[in-house]
Amino acid sequence: DRGPLVDRYGRVHRDLRISLTDRCSLRCTYCMPAEGVPWLERDSILTTPELERMARIAASLGIVEVRLTGGEPLLRPDVVDVVRRITAIRGVDGPLRVSVTTNGLRLPKLMDELVDAGLERLNISLDTLRRDRFAELTRRDRLDDVLEAIDIASRSGLRPLKINTVAMRGVNDDECADLLRYAVSVGAELRFIEQMPLDAGHTWTRAEMVTREELLDALGAEFSLTPVGERGAAPAELFEVDGGPTTVGVIASVTAPFCGACDRVRLTADGQLRNCLFSREESDVTSLLRAGADDDTVAARVRACIEAKLPGHGINEPGFLQPDRPMSAIGG
Ligand code: GTP
Ligand code: 5AD
Ligand code: SF4
Repeated sequence: DRGPLVDRYGRVHRDLRISLTDRCSLRCTYCMPAEGVPWLERDSILTTPELERMARIAASLGIVEVRLTGGEPLLRPDVVDVVRRITAIRGVDGPLRVSVTTNGLRLPKLMDELVDAGLERLNISLDTLRRDRFAELTRRDRLDDVLEAIDIASRSGLRPLKINTVAMRGVNDDECADLLRYAVSVGAELRFIEQMPLDAGHTWTRAEMVTREELLDALGAEFSLTPVGERGAAPAELFEVDGGPTTVGVIASVTAPFCGACDRVRLTADGQLRNCLFSREESDVTSLLRAGADDDTVAARVRACIEAKLPGHGINEPGFLQPDRPMSAIGG
């Protein structure tokens, strides 16, 4: 049975997010402690042929888009091969479209090869334009490398180029306008993100989170923002900046959840399917693949995972519990 992946609430799943590694070259304070976190066992990481097989099975179930995440996905030594193999898979409406969410550090080195392998889009993370702040926030003095990555990406043909900024009170919330002016200057779509309870230290508080409303107030004071309609399943609500064509987005996972339109399923680097960023249960595919299960059996497990999906993340409900895995091991 290879019909589309529809859950109990009628949501059709078309987007697979694959985490390629849980390791990262930065140590953003909201994500990882300075010493890192206990890394996944090397043997538990899905091999590239295993990933390719999962993507092929997902494509047979109606997945049309694959986003590669991490940790930092470009740290996977064979990431270019992963992109090449996945873009070679045919989905229901053509080849699988592949995008990457990255911190950018290895991008200058890999850009040409990634484009050649068929990469369609890039989202690059950047929380501040100030060198001292960047070093403090990521615990690495690499701002110039990220800016170089954005420059190279903006000169490539890959569009739209997106920049992700997690808004943090007292850390970078005074930089919203500067960041937006910068994004406009490089032709990128900046998305401000409400911080979600996914940090390794479980220290997230609602009061610390900069909300969608605060972000729109701050931006509205300096730019004219015109809502762009029809966002579909996208996490970001978009606005044209000063009449366009550049757009800015807000990803308000907490104060304006978009779970009702969610079309995403996740595969962790160690081969666990998650039907939600915040799900408390995972479906193991590693053991199935390594026990010699056939495609139908693996597909049935993917379908069962989707069938168990809850209507929403529950962050705003009493008794909400943060998932045990941190963001770096889920992939965002
Ligand atoms: P596009 O396909 O370019 O729209 O990418 P994206 O925004 O879906 O992915 P990206 O990896 O750039 O993530 C940007 C932010 O959105 C991160 O903070 C993600 O954790 C968050 N995000 C992505 N998908 C989901 C989701 O399904 N639910 C929630 N709550 N947040 C999500
Ligand atoms: N809440 C929201 N976004 C986060 N990211 C990392 N941690 C969080 C969090 N707790 C962002 C990263 C990156 C994307 C994958 O998710 O900055 O842009
Ligand atoms: Fe989908 Fe879960 Fe994200 Fe909501 S929080 S949009 S259900 S992944």
